[in-house]
Amino acid sequence: MKTILVTGGAGFIGCNLVRLLLRSRDDVSVVNLDSLTYAGNLESLADLEADPRYEFIRADLVDRAAVDAVFEGRNFDGIMHLAAESHVDRSILEPAVFIRTNVLGTQNLLDCARKHEVPRFLQVSTDEVYGTLGATGLFTEETPLAPNSPYSASKASSDLLARAAFHTHGLPVVTTRCSNNYGPFQFPEKLIPLMINNALEDRPLPVYGDGQQVRDWLHVDDHCRALVAVYEGGKPGEVYNIGGNTELPNLTVVRTLLSILGKSEDLIQYVTDRPGHDRRYAIDAGKIRRELGWEPQRRFEEALAETVRWYQAQRVWCERVRSGVYRDYYERQYGSRLG
Ligand code: NAD
Ligand code: TYD
Repeated sequence: MKTILVTGGAGFIGCNLVRLLLRSRDDVSVVNLDSLTYAGNLESLADLEADPRYEFIRADLVDRAAVDAVFEGRNFDGIMHLAAESHVDRSILEPAVFIRTNVLGTQNLLDCARKHEVPRFLQVSTDEVYGTLGATGLFTEETPLAPNSPYSASKASSDLLARAAFHTHGLPVVTTRCSNNYGPFQFPEKLIPLMINNALEDRPLPVYGDGQQVRDWLHVDDHCRALVAVYEGGKPGEVYNIGGNTELPNLTVVRTLLSILGKSEDLIQYVTDRPGHDRRYAIDAGKIRRELGWEPQRRFEEALAETVRWYQAQRVWCERVRSGVYRDYYERQYGSRLG
C-alpha cells in the first residue's frame, strides 16, 4: 500500500482528488491534512469516512510543530499539495492570510518533505502566476511569472520555493499550473457556483466590469486526472500547464447558466470591476498531452449543465457552507455594490 499525503483535501479540488485516488488506485491510501478554513468542508467527504484507506488530520500548515507531528511515524510515498487560500477577491481584502498559508505553509511542508526524504512532491498551482494575456496568445511553461493579484503573487512565491527545494536540496518536486475549474463541491464564492446559487434564489448576478474578461474553463474531474498523471509520471523539476481549451468571456458563462436554469437575463447586474482584474487567461496544454497523454474528457456544455443540476440537488450543502463566516465575507464583498 502506498500512502499519499493530500493537503487541502477538504476543499473543492482536494475532495474530488481524494475520491478519484481512492476509486482509481487500489494500492493507495490517503491522509488528508486540512485546517478546515471557511473553504474546507468535511461534509464533502462524508461518503469516505468509513473507508479504511482514508484518514483525516486537522492541522494548520503554518504550525510547524503540528505538521512535523503528522510526518512522525508515517512514511509518505508522496505529497500532493493543494491547501491554499484560493480566492482572488479575498486576497485583495486580506492579503496577509494568503502569505501565511500559501508561502509560509508551503515552506513548512517542503521542509518536512525534505527532512523525511519524501520521494515525490506535487506543487499544485495556477495559470494566474503568469499574469494576464492580451487578445491573443497562450501561456506556456516558459511564460515569465508576472502575478497581478495578492493571490497569484502568493502562489508564484510558493512555486518558487518549491522550485528552490528542487534545485537546492534535490527534493523531487513537480509543479502543475491549471486554468479555472468548475464542478461539484466548489465553494459558492467563485464565479460559476455563485451565479448558480444567486440565480436559483432569484438574486442579482454581480458581473464585474464589462463581463468580457476571458477564462479557460476545465471540469474538476479533468484537473484531478491531470494531477494524478503528473504526480505519477511528471519529471522532477518540471512544470506542466493544464487547461481545458474552453476560453469564454464571463458574460457568456453567466448567460449560459441563466439559459440552463430558464431564468431571465434581467438578473444580471454589472458592478464595479475587480481592482487589477486580469483580462484573459488561456493555456497551451501541449506538454502534458505530448508527454503524459492527458487531455480533457468533459465537454463544457454538458458538464456545466450537470454542475447546475448538482447545485440544484445540494441546497442543504450550499446553505451550510454559506452560513457564518461566509455570510460576513459576502456582505463585505458585495454589500455596498449591489443595488
Ligand atoms: P479551496 O479554497 O476550495 O480549498 C482549499 C483547502 O485548503 C480548504 O479545504 C482549506 O481548509 C485548506 N487550507 C487553507 N489554508 C490551510 C492551512 N493553513 N493549512 C491546512 N489547510 C488549509 O481551493 P481549491 O479551489 O480546491 O484549490 C486547491 C488548489 O488548487 C489551490 O492550491 C489553488 O491555488 C489551486 N488551483 C485552483 C484552481 C481553481 O479554479 N479552483 C485552479 C488552478 C489551481
Ligand atoms: P473567479 O471565479 O473568482 O476566478 P479567478 O478570479 O481566479 O479567475 O472569477 C472568474 C471570473 O469571473 C473573473 O474574471 C472574475 C469574474 N467574477 C465576476 O464577474 N463576478 C463575481 O461575482 C465573481 C466571483 C467573479
